Amino acid sequence: MSSLDEAQVSFFREHGYLPMEAITSADEVAELRGIFDGLFASRAGWEQGRAFDLAGADEAGKEPVLPQIINPVEFAPALASTRFRVNALAIARQLIGPGAEPWFEHAINKPARIGAATPWHQDEAHRYDPGVDYEQISIWMPLQPATLENGCMQYIPGSHRGPVLEHHSLNDDPRISALECCATFDATKAVACPLPAGGAAIHHCRTLHCASANVTGQPRRAYILAFRGAPVPAPAREMFPWLRGKQTPAAQRAASWENRGGAVGRAGRAAAGVARRAARKISRMFRK
Ligand code: NI
Repeated sequence: MSSLDEAQVSFFREHGYLPMEAITSADEVAELRGIFDGLFASRAGWEQGRAFDLAGADEAGKEPVLPQIINPVEFAPALASTRFRVNALAIARQLIGPGAEPWFEHAINKPARIGAATPWHQDEAHRYDPGVDYEQISIWMPLQPATLENGCMQYIPGSHRGPVLEHHSLNDDPRISALECCATFDATKAVACPLPAGGAAIHHCRTLHCASANVTGQPRRAYILAFRGAPVPAPAREMFPWLRGKQTPAAQRAASWENRGGAVGRAGRAAAGVARRAARKISRMFRK
């Protein structure tokens, strides 16, 4: 099981991010690559609004430039029992306390040559839940080496200690899920985090980050697990204005799916159950 040493914990606290050389085995990464390629090839989660183009408007006939699947574990039950998941939870509990729980996860594919840049943003700017606050971190694992050429993570050190900055929908298009920070900040301070396959880049929900376009001939796949601490009431927290006008095609597909009976289907529900049980089992392991 992975744990961070004191120097790593203090690096994270000071800079708001932390690169790690390894968070799981090479065998598991190879297995996950196969699963991810299958999920993206079959557009798993499309109808349910869980799969969409993060940097596009899901227009018919247009190749997605940044396909993403939310909670891919519901479409691939094998993702419920990974060493990555166990290690990431242990690390999350070191960084945000013993109450940290799995929050959500996503799979991102940055296709060869056409994979779009992920704009500068803070993850917290995506939060829809006014009235509560919680600590949140993301653990980002590439399934092949991540480089500046295929879109490794880049961070502004220390930005997690500031406020949530102003954002807008990418290209000012409310159909696009991605947000872009439009406040002034010093992008020359950016630090790139190239990683080996199965390494990890951990960041706080307020750390400004981006990833460049994929100009290589191979896809850049990343698996991200997000964790949060216990929510606390924060009556002053309102809905961010840049989220109010969002009208993504994925949200429309999700609503339409719900109207037609909801759930992801028997297989999806079973997988979600497996994931929940795995999370509970891991939680119990840590309580001992
Ligand atoms: Ni992000």
